Amino acid sequence: MEEVVTLQLEAPLALVTLNRPKSLNALNSEVYRQLIAILRRVEGMDDIKAVILTGAGDKAFAAGADIAQMVHEDSMAARRLSGLCHEAAGLLENMRQVTIAAVNGYALGGGCELTLACDIRIAAEQARFALPEVTLGIIPGGGGTQRLARLIGAGRAKEMIFTGDQIDAQEAWRIGLVNHVVPKEDLLEACRTLGKKIASRASYAVYLAKTAINSSQEIDLKNGAQREMDLMGLAFATHDKQEGMEAFLARRPPEFQDF
Ligand code: CAA
Repeated sequence: MEEVVTLQLEAPLALVTLNRPKSLNALNSEVYRQLIAILRRVEGMDDIKAVILTGAGDKAFAAGADIAQMVHEDSMAARRLSGLCHEAAGLLENMRQVTIAAVNGYALGGGCELTLACDIRIAAEQARFALPEVTLGIIPGGGGTQRLARLIGAGRAKEMIFTGDQIDAQEAWRIGLVNHVVPKEDLLEACRTLGKKIASRASYAVYLAKTAINSSQEIDLKNGAQREMDLMGLAFATHDKQEGMEAFLARRPPEFQDF
């Protein structure tokens, strides 16, 4: 079987690459299936603390769902494809490792939606973002109508989705769509540096913080605050809490446990 998504292990990091550069890493069902299988495998690896997701080649992260596949599809097939997009996005968003999108070029449609599901986005200066689905007579199907508004606000999300226009990396940074913009040659290194820094922290605490922040996107403030209190209590039951605080007081580096 053709390897359309690749996995490179560099513990504590995993580099996952969308790999159909001739079609600008267009996302067909097989890409989503391989991506889902790889993310599930990585989730079981205790020594991996952060996942970097990027695209092969120098033009695209991913130029969206595969139009050559979709042109032949009916609404049931589209529903299945959308289900695969959501499964991949849900894994990126909720897996116990931190996920970082290294956006090396076009991130359009389903490609943009994968970046939205990552915890953090770092873009190369050449990166471009769009949800151009309405120019094809469809709507975003990989979470774009849900996650974009949560990230940049409904007004800006509506303008991007209603026009389908591309925005460049600087504009994406200005509106909070990406965390950082870096020169293309520094992109993977910037992601690795950030991933390693996060990996050096207490990984169970990072996971608890990730789940608490994700909750804030879904539940009201009262219930979110309740959840934070409960997770804060849980953190105090861990080895890492004792180790982190004792190490601070003894002025030595902490030795956190794998999670
Ligand atoms: N699906 C299938 N093939 C694609 C593709 C896509 N989304 N995007 C690019 N390709 C292919 C092109 O057909 C072309 O193939 P050939 O060489 O065999 O002709 C190759 O990739 C290179 O693309 P271009 O020649 O078009 O390159 P360009 O530099 O002139 O333009 C681009 C680049 C602006 C990204 C342009 O390719 C483009 O607009 N692509 C489509 C973007 C798009 O509409 N994506 C949204 C899809 S809908 C979606 O994603 C639904 C969802 O929510 C899940």
